[in-house]
Amino acid sequence: MPGPSAPGTAAGGMRLRGTVAMVTGASRGIGRAIAQALAAEGADLCLVATSREGLADVMAAISGTPGQKLALGFDVADRTACQAAVAQCVDRFGRLDALVNNAGIYLAKTFLEYEPADFQRLLDVNLFGVIHLTQAALPGMLERGYGRIVNIASTAGKWGSRNQSAYNVSKHAVVGLTRCVALETAARGVTVNAICPGFIDTDMLVDLKRDAATKGVADPDAVFAALINQRVPMARALRADEIAGMAVYLASPQASGLTGQSILIDGGMITA
Ligand code: NAI
Repeated sequence: MPGPSAPGTAAGGMRLRGTVAMVTGASRGIGRAIAQALAAEGADLCLVATSREGLADVMAAISGTPGQKLALGFDVADRTACQAAVAQCVDRFGRLDALVNNAGIYLAKTFLEYEPADFQRLLDVNLFGVIHLTQAALPGMLERGYGRIVNIASTAGKWGSRNQSAYNVSKHAVVGLTRCVALETAARGVTVNAICPGFIDTDMLVDLKRDAATKGVADPDAVFAALINQRVPMARALRADEIAGMAVYLASPQASGLTGQSILIDGGMITA
């Protein structure tokens, strides 16, 4: 007997036909996988990355899907740009139903090595990017009595880690924000949830290994493989599409009863 179908295949259907969704950090990695999964479900999409050119590849990859697409390049830490982007999306599609706040950056240092500017930049992108776009998108959602906010946090938003305190602080803040905004919008048709991925095989991990090499780690690939074996019960880094399926669900009308949650997808790392 065949197994269940992936989203977007015939049996997966077009669950998001008529949904207008914005995805940040859509040029690569998790955001790209989410954009492709939403497109496969028929959504109209506004894709965001630091540069518009960076989105050319994903735009080409989803060009055969039925929804309309808009590509925007800007820094999510820029509040004015975030407000302009939501306005442009509403201008083009009439509304914004689902916002996936995925754009994020990572920087590994010990607490004592981090400069205040490092903390500031991580918070500006990972937290304030979410705040700016959510504050821009939410009024329209509340007015229409329907909306889906999906924040990509991290396992780093749920527990402590060595040598990445500024990143963990930014992700804990996203988990906290998710809980609080969810309570304020719960009675008005808007859900707010987060996904907390563990180790996902993206360019962010490639950058991390490159960074480790420059800091004198002799064989970052081997060190990383050992870390995964030791920490992840599934003994592998997950694929970006394993996050995308949950994002599609949370962005869909079906997820109407679920809010304020920060859902771990981490290969079994945290089971409590
Ligand atoms: P990535 O580095 O491969 O891609 C990041 C994306 O965000 C790119 O499209 C980039 O253009 C965009 N971006 C970065 N800074 C931006 C800014 N200031 N303004 C607009 N766009 C910006 O990252 P990856 O691995 O796909 O991660 C995506 C999200 O998932 C991030 O929030 C990350 O913190 C989170 N995450 C990643 C994990 C992993 O193991 N890769 C694990 C847990 C969470």
